[in-house]
Amino acid sequence: MKALILSGGKGTRLRPLTYTGAKQLVPVANKPILWYGIESIVAAGIIDIGIIISPETGEEIKEKTGNGDRFGAKITYIYQDQPLGLAHAVKVARPFLGDSPFVMYLGDNLIQDGLGEFLQVFTEKNLDALILLRTVSNPTAFGVAKVDEQGRVLALVEKPKVPPSNLALVGLYFFANSIHQAIDSIQPSARGELEITDAIQALINQSQKVEALQLEGWWLDTGKKDDLLAANQIILDSILVNSNQGNVDAQSQISGRVTIGKNSQIINSTIRGPVIIGENCQIENCFIGPFSSIGDHVILQDADLEHSVILQSAQVIGIQQRIVDSVIGQRAKLAIAPQRPKALRFLIGDDSQIELV
Ligand code: G1P
Repeated sequence: MKALILSGGKGTRLRPLTYTGAKQLVPVANKPILWYGIESIVAAGIIDIGIIISPETGEEIKEKTGNGDRFGAKITYIYQDQPLGLAHAVKVARPFLGDSPFVMYLGDNLIQDGLGEFLQVFTEKNLDALILLRTVSNPTAFGVAKVDEQGRVLALVEKPKVPPSNLALVGLYFFANSIHQAIDSIQPSARGELEITDAIQALINQSQKVEALQLEGWWLDTGKKDDLLAANQIILDSILVNSNQGNVDAQSQISGRVTIGKNSQIINSTIRGPVIIGENCQIENCFIGPFSSIGDHVILQDADLEHSVILQSAQVIGIQQRIVDSVIGQRAKLAIAPQRPKALRFLIGDDSQIELV
């Protein structure tokens, strides 16, 4: 069994963060989204992993993620020159996959359930494809399945205007090698992509064994800001532990589950977990409320924030109002002068959003 993780694409819905980096490397609880997927695949006993990357962001993914040693896996990087669809990515990965069955995992998805149980069903039933479904309130944003009472999949449609159900396709699929001839039989869709949903539909039309299981746990597709904040909240809520490798002065108060990284200084501040703080941060005269992730080398002074993600090397200084539901990019600086400011001075990247509410 091999694994194929799709980590290409342009990440347009997470701009401006994705102008300078891959969406799959945006951190959730200070760890790149992509790494959760790798860990989950390795936990299911699959260690031969191919990662599809794009020319734009591939080098950064390779450099950060490495050859797999840190995960106990062997990672092969595979370039997809253009984002021509999920089925196209499988085509490009054919030399890596050979005739092996494989699990395909979309690198921006976070899935609570372990993969082991699904893998067992796929193997024991000798399926051609096993897909995972989850009810959603906005099925038009996903691939959608129509299933009968036995869980057999009758039809799949990608981003339908009129959805046949509210069962979305989760970004986790198990395939036998029969998927390759199915992919060879399909044509690009109206949006010009080779859709994996069409390839699975081709398997169904040929009466191959395609089944679906419903996910029990949470599933997050971290493509947008609010999804990213939701993912951050869930991960902090479920896996964060108390650990302090930094320095907390006597004037500071820490409550709830809080992780503080090496060399971080907490001065005269209140931190109410769950909160994760990276390494080499300086936090002075601040309130940091629940569900916040602070990356490495961040400076926070006279600031008050909660339910927010602050990326590496950002600075927030002198903001009296509480910062909520915010994502602040790497090296961004937000500062207000101690005396009441008479003017606002900005250098804001394309597609940024600033709301004074
Ligand atoms: C892709 C798939 C879609 C699936 C979704 C899950 O869409 O095409 O069928 O439901 O992932 O995350 P994308 O997120 O690339 O628009």
